[in-house]
Amino acid sequence: MTEYKNRAVVLNRRPEGEIRDGDLVVQEREQRPLKDGEVRAQTLWLSLDPYMRPRMNDSKGYMDPIGIGETIVGESVGRIVESKSDQYQVGDLITSYSGWQEYSVFPGDAPMVYKIEPKAGVPLQAYLGVAGMPGRTGYCGLMYVGKPKAGETVVVSAASGPVGTVVGQTAKKEGCRVVGVAGGPEKCRFVVEELGFDACVDYKAGNLEADLKAACPDGIDIYFENVGGAVTRAVAPLLNKGARVPICGYVSAYNAADMASVETPFHVLKALDEVPEHRFFLVTEWQAQHQEITTILTDRVASGELKYRETVAEGLDNAVEAFKGMLNGKNFGKQLVHIAD
Ligand SMILES: NC(=O)c1ccc[n+]([C@@H]2O[C@H](COP(=O)([O-])OP(=O)(O)OC[C@H]3O[C@@H](n4cnc5c(N)ncnc54)[C@H](OP(=O)(O)O)[C@@H]3O)[C@@H](O)[C@H]2O)c1
Repeated sequence: MTEYKNRAVVLNRRPEGEIRDGDLVVQEREQRPLKDGEVRAQTLWLSLDPYMRPRMNDSKGYMDPIGIGETIVGESVGRIVESKSDQYQVGDLITSYSGWQEYSVFPGDAPMVYKIEPKAGVPLQAYLGVAGMPGRTGYCGLMYVGKPKAGETVVVSAASGPVGTVVGQTAKKEGCRVVGVAGGPEKCRFVVEELGFDACVDYKAGNLEADLKAACPDGIDIYFENVGGAVTRAVAPLLNKGARVPICGYVSAYNAADMASVETPFHVLKALDEVPEHRFFLVTEWQAQHQEITTILTDRVASGELKYRETVAEGLDNAVEAFKGMLNGKNFGKQLVHIAD
């Protein structure tokens, strides 16, 4: 036992479709004393990300499912509050895969833990959003899988979220015409007026195919796939010869009761007469460039060039509702949970 009272959100029951009351529950967890070489971190900001939902299912995707009774996986910004490792000092700020909990213990040499060197103009929580994993996903997926060339038309779905935000602004910097797809007029206005995209199509307005065609008079050279479903079906006939489709995710399917029966972007693209270059990618493919890409993104945040929104839920008790909302687009920009200062 220690002085630290930990609380965690754990998987109590596997959700069938949308998450229901009782699927995820908050539990008190004992914090054990540190062993030599270990550190204890207090979670300050927790990141909520769409990939967490498929990991609650009992099927192996690109990562193992979360076990019943286990803490929900997730990345956070934390502060070292106790250290028996010479690699960390009390007060160090880090990002780590702590899971949805208020305190975590890990060995000083654990992988995927990064020290944050605070930079003026870059709030801590940005290291979970546009300057963190989602930002690196957007940057690397666009630059290394999409391979944009000046003058090309790039379409990105979930355009106001952290991945889409970085994809669109990076593509603009590369000299592309950028069209976002987002849910609702407020998000579309933000994407054009604040983020500087050339156009944004509201897929909820009822004219998706026609609106997308009008926004892409020269067709589509890169479709950065975040959502799947109706958006992919509307994009497919507009893809130009030589088009590339980085498949980042397809969040419209994540709440499906049976993922195996979902029509994925692969089905839609493979059925085309001219099959575009397309592949699923994982941000961890560029793990070796973690610091280099983080520096690019934090520099752009610090200078004000990379703009973004965030939605903040307060406290671990509100994490589940915030997560459910995010899967349905209730978030506007990066969805975070603020745990402590
Ligand atoms: N491959 C990787 O390594 C990797 C890493 C990180 C993220 N990702 C993927 O990147 C994508 C975006 O992630 P993010 O963190 O930036 O999420 P996000 O945009 O903050 O949140 C998801 C958004 O998806 C949209 N959405 C939900 N249901 C939809 C539907 N039926 N049709 C169209 N849009 C829908 C909603 O926006 P609207 O209100 O606009 O509908 C919602 O806000 C996800 O697919 C995620 O899994 C992949």
